[in-house]
Amino acid sequence: MKKFRLFTPGPCAVPEEVLVEMARPFRHHRTDWFKGLMKEAAAQLQQVLLTRNDVIIITGSGTAAAEAAIIGCNPAGSKLLTIEGGKFGERWGEIAEQFGLNVVRQPVDWGTAPTPELVADWLKKDPAITAVMLVHSETSTATACDLAAIGKVINSAGKLLLADCITSAGALPLKPDQWGVDVVVTGAQKSLMLPPGLGFLAVSERAWKVIESNKSQHAYYLNLNKARKMAKENDTPFTPAHLLVRGLVKALSVLLEEGMENVWKRVATMAAATRAAGQAIGLKVFSKSPSDSVTALCPPAGITVKDIRNELEKRYGIESAGGQDQLKGKIFRLGHMGYVDEMDTVLAVAALEQVLYKLGHKFELGAGVSAAQKVIAEQVKPAELWTAPALRSQIARRDFVTGVRTRSAAQLLFERVHQYCGCGCAQACAVGSVCWSDRVGPLPSPGKRR
Ligand SMILES: Cc1ncc(COP(=O)(O)O)c(C=O)c1O
Repeated sequence: MKKFRLFTPGPCAVPEEVLVEMARPFRHHRTDWFKGLMKEAAAQLQQVLLTRNDVIIITGSGTAAAEAAIIGCNPAGSKLLTIEGGKFGERWGEIAEQFGLNVVRQPVDWGTAPTPELVADWLKKDPAITAVMLVHSETSTATACDLAAIGKVINSAGKLLLADCITSAGALPLKPDQWGVDVVVTGAQKSLMLPPGLGFLAVSERAWKVIESNKSQHAYYLNLNKARKMAKENDTPFTPAHLLVRGLVKALSVLLEEGMENVWKRVATMAAATRAAGQAIGLKVFSKSPSDSVTALCPPAGITVKDIRNELEKRYGIESAGGQDQLKGKIFRLGHMGYVDEMDTVLAVAALEQVLYKLGHKFELGAGVSAAQKVIAEQVKPAELWTAPALRSQIARRDFVTGVRTRSAAQLLFERVHQYCGCGCAQACAVGSVCWSDRVGPLPSPGKRR
C-alpha cells in the first residue's frame, strides 16, 4: 500500500470536509443560493486576509488575478516597477510587457529578498513610477520579503503597492490595510485549501480610483470594474467555478476556526522544524530570507534532486517540487501550506531521511526528526497545547480521515500535551487517559468524527 501525500507548494492538500462539500449536488449559479455563498465567501476572505477592502473572486488561477491587477492599475501614462527575485516576479514583468505597459523590471538575486532601502532607492531614481508589483513570498526560491517595511516605503512615496500574496496569504502574517497594500493578489490552491481554479483580490479605495478611471484597460474577462459591479450584488460577470466557491466557504471556515494567528504560528513551526531538520542532516537551506510557506533545500553532493524526489514519491507517496529555471536540479522544495500540520512535517522529514540514507548520504539517521521534534516542542507553548480547540479538532479530524494508521501521530501529540500539562503522567499516559479527558475530553475512536 502507498499513501499519497502532497507536499508541493501548490496545489496543496485539501481537507476532506471541503472535498465532500464540493461533491454534493448543486444548483444554478444565478440564484439566491449562490449569491449567499458569494456573500459569505467575500466576508470570510476579508477576515482571513485581515482587510476591510473590497474582495473580488475570479474564476481562474492566481495568475488571472495578478493579470487583472496589473492591467487595471496601470493606465496609459503610468509606469510600473516589477521587483523580480524569482520565477513569479519575472512573470509579472512579462505580463506588463505583453500588454505594452510602461514597465521597469528590477532583478534581485534569486534567494535574496528586496530590502526597503533598495526599493526606496529605485523609486527615488525613477520618480515617474506610479505602481510597484512585489512578490511577498517568492515560491520559486522559497524566499519572503518584509512586506510591512517595503509597504511603508512605497506608501510614503505615494505609489500604489500591488502584492503577489499567492503563497503568503493564509500562511505568513499579512496585514494589508495596516501595511498599505493596495492590491492583495492570491489564489485558491495554496493556504486557502482548495483545488486550483479561483483567484482573489483585495483592492483598496486608492487603487479603485485608478482602476475606475483607467480608460486603456485591455481586459474583457479580467476587467475589475465589471467584477466589482457584480460583486456588489454578490454575483460574478461570467459563469463562476461555483463549486469551488462552495468549497471556499468551508475551507475558510476551517481556517477561521483555528484563528489566523494560530495558522501563522503553525506554518512558522512547520517551516522552522523543516529547516532545522535539513541542517541537522547536512542539507543547506537555499534562501537567505526563507519563507515559512515553503522550504527549499539543496541536495547533498553526489545525490541528485531527481533521485530524491523520485524516491520520496516512489517509496512514501510524497510529492515534492524541484527547482525552476536557473534552480532546476539545484533545490527541492517542501510546502507547508494547506491541510498539513506539525506531525505531517515530522513524517516528511522522516521520509527524507530514509530516502537520503538509501541514496548513500552520510548522516546520523534520526537527527532530522529529532531536530524537527525539538523545534515543535519548543515553539508550542503549554497553554496553546492543551487548551486550544484547534488542536483538539486537528486530532479529531486527522483521526477521522486516516483511522488507525495515524493514531500514532495523534499519540505523539498527546505525549507532547503530557510533557507540559504537569499531571505527572508524562509519556506513560495512554490515549484517553484521565489527564487528557480532564482537560479536553477523550479522543474520538477511529472513524468517528467528534
Ligand atoms: C508566488 C506565486 N505567484 C504566482 C503563482 C502563479 O499562480 P497560479 O499558478 O495560481 O496561476 C504562484 C504559483 O505557484 C506562486 O507561487
